[in-house]
Amino acid sequence: MKNIVVLVSGGGTNLQRIIDCIENGEIPNARISLVIADRECFGLVRARNHNIAAQLIPRGKSFSAELKNALPEHTDLIVLAGFLSILNKEFCESFNGKIINIHPALLPKYGGKGMWGHHVHEAVLAANEKQSGATVHYVNAEIDEGQIILQKSFEIAPNETLESLAKKIHEVEFEIFPRAINKVLGIPL
Ligand code: GAR
Repeated sequence: MKNIVVLVSGGGTNLQRIIDCIENGEIPNARISLVIADRECFGLVRARNHNIAAQLIPRGKSFSAELKNALPEHTDLIVLAGFLSILNKEFCESFNGKIINIHPALLPKYGGKGMWGHHVHEAVLAANEKQSGATVHYVNAEIDEGQIILQKSFEIAPNETLESLAKKIHEVEFEIFPRAINKVLGIPL
């Protein structure tokens, strides 16, 4: 049984997808041992609704150190699912290859500091991109620059709005996130 810790900052629909995939067997032989949020958010409620341990560590300078202390001893994978704090270099290096993140764009485009959530969608639409998508990648000390695990793209419609783009991104995320988790955990796709 693999033990996954999920980090969230917001609504947690990706967390919900992971919970559902574990419950329906799409992600086999895994459990979420802990959900950690860096602020009060609905992701914490989702965890508690499924009797998953949930903890708030307020964002700030000591977040990475407190996270390290809070991690269960046997943690196979740390999954950033709409998580907005930056983990420090020391943390990233000590869990190298064990942290993955989902990003709402086709990295390496539209990544880096300040590029999260609607800021990404706004930038993509402002640049008249023909395509967008989502990326799951390993986390290293450089923001959004770790090795790509899975990526999926789609065409942007001529009348695309912020809302319709965000919805399409979430749909792609729900498809590739469980597959990427299985891939990293060594479960055949
Ligand atoms: C997701 O679209 C995720 O890709 C994005 O935040 C959203 C969280 O949604 N993450 C980032 O922008 C990280 N840079 P959710 O809370 O409903 O899963």
